[in-house]
Amino acid sequence: MKIAIVQERLEDVTADALVVGLYADDKKLPEGLARLDRATGGQMKRVLVAERFKAKAGQVTHLHADGRRVVVVGLGPRAEIAAETLRRAAAAGVRRARDLGARVVAAEVLGERLTARQRAQALVEGALLGTYAFERYKREKAERVVGELRVVEADARRARDVADGVRRGETFARAAALARDLINTPAKDLSPTDLARTATELAKDRRLGVKILDRAECRKLGMDAFLGVAAGSDEPPKFIHLTYVPAGRKRKRVALIGKGVTFDSGGLDLKTADGMLHMKDDMAGAAAVLGIMQALPALRPPVEVHGLIAATENMPSGSAIRPGDVLRAMNGTTIEIGNTDAEGRLTLADALCYAVSHVKPDEIVDVATLTGACVVALGPLCVGLMANDQALAGRLLKAGESAGERLWQLPLVDEYRELFKSDVADLNNTGGRHAGAITAGLFLKEFAGKTPWAHLDIAGPAFTEKDLPLAPKGATGVGVRTLLAYLAE
Ligand code: BES
Ligand code: MN
Ligand code: ZN
Repeated sequence: MKIAIVQERLEDVTADALVVGLYADDKKLPEGLARLDRATGGQMKRVLVAERFKAKAGQVTHLHADGRRVVVVGLGPRAEIAAETLRRAAAAGVRRARDLGARVVAAEVLGERLTARQRAQALVEGALLGTYAFERYKREKAERVVGELRVVEADARRARDVADGVRRGETFARAAALARDLINTPAKDLSPTDLARTATELAKDRRLGVKILDRAECRKLGMDAFLGVAAGSDEPPKFIHLTYVPAGRKRKRVALIGKGVTFDSGGLDLKTADGMLHMKDDMAGAAAVLGIMQALPALRPPVEVHGLIAATENMPSGSAIRPGDVLRAMNGTTIEIGNTDAEGRLTLADALCYAVSHVKPDEIVDVATLTGACVVALGPLCVGLMANDQALAGRLLKAGESAGERLWQLPLVDEYRELFKSDVADLNNTGGRHAGAITAGLFLKEFAGKTPWAHLDIAGPAFTEKDLPLAPKGATGVGVRTLLAYLAE
């Protein structure tokens, strides 16, 4: 979908469909709609009355006026308007226009109260995220697609803000779409080697720094926890290190770590069929990091960003690690394997060690489909946030709010560390049935040391089993927009 900005009045724009917003408490039609209404001899108003259109948030209706489709989307009460309402309204409106066969869709920068920039960003994010489709393996591709979105803003004084918002919305949404594509791709077609190749291509196109470490190089660094997970797979592991350096002054250096288990069978502690079904998504954290790195050269935040991914499969075989084995992480910590299915924290442990010793960042954020326990605790719509630094946690919560992604903080209760004590090693990689998301977080915390660090457990929202307002069934790309908002601030 191409995005253009047009400085015309809505009713003058050439398009197959117009998308317009309406507040629930508006007594009369807003200007643009009113003019359309007059042009059609009051037809518009009559249709809205006949349809009992109350303009509730998410409500959509359409009519034909002046040879065009007019899609009206409800924005809810004026006082409750938020960027997320606009994203969802734009998504629903553009989807309706698409389903009616429109190829060129014009949409006004919906709503008020928010800045023109926020509104434009929300509109574009909603339109792009809400019409995302993954068709790589389909013989028949969808025939109805929107080829162009014309963002309408008649007021010349707002032109710059709108242009900024449009650009940012496009950058955010395309980053999330890249993450979705990677996650939706089956593990057979997205091995650690494929992930590394994707990173290398990204770097070439966008002038990022890139370093790929193979098994031998990782062994030299002492990453035996990471390599232990890789031991059962025929696919060679890859450690990916991408770097974005801002052109001007940099305010800080941030390391982003993404869990990159391209398939999680559980290893010798094999998962059940149901539990394994979606485990191609166990690299959703890595995909988020790649999406973010892709976006940075366009977003240009004054922050040096390092994207780190310890990419591997977790497979059972004669060469796989066994329950009871002891692995030594890069910082010397020994880990007894209580369960080979708790592999994510092993790969992240070495990525954290690498970040601390080789990147020396001001802060670290990891993103990982880490625990089923987090899904039990927070369900499919909510990211679990844990951190050793409350200021960092606060900034991430705020970024999540502005991105419309739900984050909920869980406490890293220090006393729970005894749950993953080991009789033979420094730590055990499992902590039993209690507080599984938190014990996993506490395990990671051991490897962050004194560096401010936060952990996003995205096991729930990474993949959706039903269509959501901004994502069809499948990968959601959760984390991408929150972290981009965070870095942009
Ligand atoms: N990748 C899974 C976590 C997961 C579960 C993600 C469900 C998405 C949906 C992770 O590697 C895992 O298997 N965790 C185990 C840990 C346990 C063995 C301590 C879990 O949560 O069951
Ligand atoms: Mn697992
Ligand atoms: Zn896993």
